[in-house]
Amino acid sequence: MPMSKQGQDPKLWGGRFSSAMAAVVQTFNDSFAFDQRLAASDIAGCLAYASALQGAGLLDHAECEAISSGLEQIGSEFSAGSFAPLPSDEDIHTAIERRLHELAGSVAGKLHTGRSRNDQVATALRHYLMQVTNELTARLRSFQAVLVNRAESHLGIVMPGYTHLQRAQPILFSHWLMSFFWKFNRDIDRLAGAKMRASVCPLGAGALAGNPFDIDREHMAAQLGFAHAAENSLDAVEDRDFVVDFLYAGALLQTHLSSLAETLILWSSEAYVFIRLDEAYCTGSSLMPQKRNPDMLELIRGKSGRVLGHLTGMMTTLKGLPSGYNKDLQEDKEGLFDVIDTLLAEIPIAEAIVGSMMPNAAHMSSACCASMMATDLADYLVLKGIPFRDAHHIVGAAVQQAEQTGVSMDKLPLSALKQIHSAFDEDAASVFDVQTSIERRQAKGGTGRRAVLCQLQEADSILTQASEDKSHHG
Ligand code: ARG
Repeated sequence: MPMSKQGQDPKLWGGRFSSAMAAVVQTFNDSFAFDQRLAASDIAGCLAYASALQGAGLLDHAECEAISSGLEQIGSEFSAGSFAPLPSDEDIHTAIERRLHELAGSVAGKLHTGRSRNDQVATALRHYLMQVTNELTARLRSFQAVLVNRAESHLGIVMPGYTHLQRAQPILFSHWLMSFFWKFNRDIDRLAGAKMRASVCPLGAGALAGNPFDIDREHMAAQLGFAHAAENSLDAVEDRDFVVDFLYAGALLQTHLSSLAETLILWSSEAYVFIRLDEAYCTGSSLMPQKRNPDMLELIRGKSGRVLGHLTGMMTTLKGLPSGYNKDLQEDKEGLFDVIDTLLAEIPIAEAIVGSMMPNAAHMSSACCASMMATDLADYLVLKGIPFRDAHHIVGAAVQQAEQTGVSMDKLPLSALKQIHSAFDEDAASVFDVQTSIERRQAKGGTGRRAVLCQLQEADSILTQASEDKSHHG
């Protein structure tokens, strides 16, 4: 390790410097405070690199052993929370190397042979992100199971479906619940895509030009659980597309959570009274004793600002970079980690809220007004041979008349309907039944009970498949 200059911190890269870094700059430059979470991934990378060096004849067996057992001890120190950082630890990589010197002695100085922090940090970040996508996927799967469960047990509840926040057509409450199952299913797909893109190993790319020694990069990649080694050493050290891919997947997942939160906030309000949130997820007001506020849902909605912002932030950091590693890339971490922490925290809370809320079936059903069956009345005319466009127009006139005379559509007398069009008959009244309207929609993906049961069956088999895959691949 280079000797300290003027009694200041020894830097791993300090050889060509004759004076120490300014203290204010050191704080600005250091990343240990936030990149220490990469410890386990960096140690895994160091272990793989040590054995690759041994394979290339640059470390003998005893040296590799000494380095590996030192690294393992550092790993246990991090997991036990007993790793003692020094103010001179610039980032997680230098901290681990410094500690390795203390534990293993001068052989530690051989580990960085042919390696750069540039390939090292990119490897650690990708490795870490791959584990995170597994964790997020597991949490989303658990949330999906709750949605399926609730959908299965509430098949009898009808409610208004909305477009433009206007009552549109009646649907099953279960159909609404399941609409989020599919959004989260796409989120899981996107996370898998981000994981696949992260699964390329930069280790052995060096600072930019590649590794001069006979190391087996594909072997290291496989050992670390990557699909393969990066093809181009320059691209390997500068590529952060995988971070953007993840942030995009995260931003869209956040958008789904936020829109779920917004819907539940509305539906739990006095204006709707469709659901009652469990008290455990509400807060009171310090002033108004009657309040029961949906703060957790508001926080989920509110966190959209930071999560979506980090996607823009990362792309902005990347857009002006000249070729090669640039220190700007250290800015890839805090936003990413914030997105990860935010999502990991939100999903179980959203799951618990959905799992514990109580639907108010009576309110939902009475909110289904007759005009929501106007389309069914048009369909009725279609079945009597009238082209849909004309039927739409005819029913429009009926809607207008109901509005003008101040009656609900189903209370328009048959004589009035007949005056609008002679095709209306006694049986026209039968379309104004919510259940009938719902049960007419049995084509795949519709809200009819049978169609929803098919949907639930499909969802069940997705979840079963996912848990089988998980138990096979760990
Ligand atoms: N802490 C740095 C980062 O996060 C590690 C790489 C530093 N490399 C360098 N050439 N300065 O990107």
